[in-house]
Amino acid sequence: MSQACPRFPVCPSEALLDGQHIKVKIKYEGRDEECLLVRFKDTAYAYINRCVHMPRPLDCEQNMVFDESGKYLRCSMHGIVYIPETGTSVSAMCEGEKLRAVAVYEDNGEVGLADFRISAIRD
Ligand code: FES
Repeated sequence: MSQACPRFPVCPSEALLDGQHIKVKIKYEGRDEECLLVRFKDTAYAYINRCVHMPRPLDCEQNMVFDESGKYLRCSMHGIVYIPETGTSVSAMCEGEKLRAVAVYEDNGEVGLADFRISAIRD
């Protein structure tokens, strides 16, 4: 029998607005990482906050992770853009490479992380 994945609540659903993000510090595969929880077209997605180009957070230069169109995630360092639903780069640079996805859940008005590689949410 498979074990249920532990859930790590992050916030009420209404606190994660469409086209916005929340940063969550997590213990992931035993390491300290930062996760981006985003909402796009009413669905929540989460990714480790590390660009595929260089090990920089997407918001390293600007406090935003969606581009101005609101259709893509964008790294503020050199501008790689990613499809929000898959974390796939659609820029010429690193085309097809993916942000590392983190499993999310959303039910009963709560959104959070439910990934077996997470052991804790850090303060
Ligand atoms: S570090 Fe993200 S685009 Fe270069």
